[in-house]
Amino acid sequence: MTLTSTEPAAHRQDAADQLAAALRRMPDPTAAAGHTRRLEEQLATVFGARHAVALSSGTAALHTALAGYGIGPGDEVLVPGATVVMTVAAVLMTGATPVLVDSTPVLDLDFDDLAAKTTSRTRAIVPVHLAGRPCDLTRLTEFAARAGLRVIEDACQAQGSRLDGRPVGTFGDVGCFSMKDGKVLWSGEGGYILTDDAEFAARARSFTTHGFLPAPGRPAGSRLGHNYRLAEPLAVIASANLERFDDLLEQRHRQTRLLTDLLTDVRGLRPVQAGPREQWNHYGPLLRLTLARPRDFCRRLAEQGIANSVGTYGLTTADRLPSLAEHSLQPCPTALRSLDETLAVVVHGGHSDEQLRAMARTITQEARRWPST
Ligand SMILES: Cc1ncc(COP(=O)(O)O)c(C=O)c1O
Repeated sequence: MTLTSTEPAAHRQDAADQLAAALRRMPDPTAAAGHTRRLEEQLATVFGARHAVALSSGTAALHTALAGYGIGPGDEVLVPGATVVMTVAAVLMTGATPVLVDSTPVLDLDFDDLAAKTTSRTRAIVPVHLAGRPCDLTRLTEFAARAGLRVIEDACQAQGSRLDGRPVGTFGDVGCFSMKDGKVLWSGEGGYILTDDAEFAARARSFTTHGFLPAPGRPAGSRLGHNYRLAEPLAVIASANLERFDDLLEQRHRQTRLLTDLLTDVRGLRPVQAGPREQWNHYGPLLRLTLARPRDFCRRLAEQGIANSVGTYGLTTADRLPSLAEHSLQPCPTALRSLDETLAVVVHGGHSDEQLRAMARTITQEARRWPST
């Protein structure tokens, strides 16, 4: 089995053997294969968290985190407007009300708006490290502590990103991650939670397996939960990728450097750089656009085969998503403008240098033809 085209043959063989063993055991539901448990131990060690809970997706991780802290109907949860639908959907799944927070012009969380929207009903903040850029978690956790709020980090795009040397997803009460393909650490589908809170971890484990497991103050089978378990073969894939996590990160860094270096002098494009406290996982190269109608430019690139967040996936602020229209979410004009002006190119481990060079040529050509502001 080939996990990716770039990994060493010995590693591939090992992962293939483990996967074959997991598949042989699968027909027997009583055979505890232990791959998920092993993955959880590995995750906790690699990220320096006391507990890791593996589950079926990043959305499941967010839902489990919110539910695990008892957030539900009548509660408000602060969420950046600049995020994907899944962050907001997870809040809605609990019955709580999402309250959107605007961004600064450079797509950081707007702390004035955050403070203005915090009410007596607010229970939690979900900072989103979009494109692997860490939020200012120091300021955020201080704010949350003063206001008595939980911090549930949406680090789904940010495995391996750090702030002041510390991995994002380990600052708040819980960090939530996705392992969908395309993420730096991937297993096809999947997710995980990191936390130092042992009681929360036990509640999360129970919630993700129909309440079959006991949780503090809650005997096994006394409450409903969900089937949010990670399938064992996916745990094998995740473990194999976690063992070469540094290489996967280094590969993204190299790919991002290659693409952004080739685009540095192109009119209308300016690579976005990490701040001095930040280490990005380089989920994808980020470029600031000073071209006319930047959203249309991103769409044009998508038509030319350059996958990007705005042009290909329609990334916009959550209040503008048709699927959330009935919730009348707060407009976030500054976040909208900054998303429009940000070209986030989709890069993954399968891209060769030659493909990246070809992508840079297409982007350059299109930018040269496009009117500037
Ligand atoms: C920022 C963010 N939050 C949440 C999710 C949800 O993760 P999943 O697709 O694994 O449910 C994603 C997935 O792409 C994401 O990028």
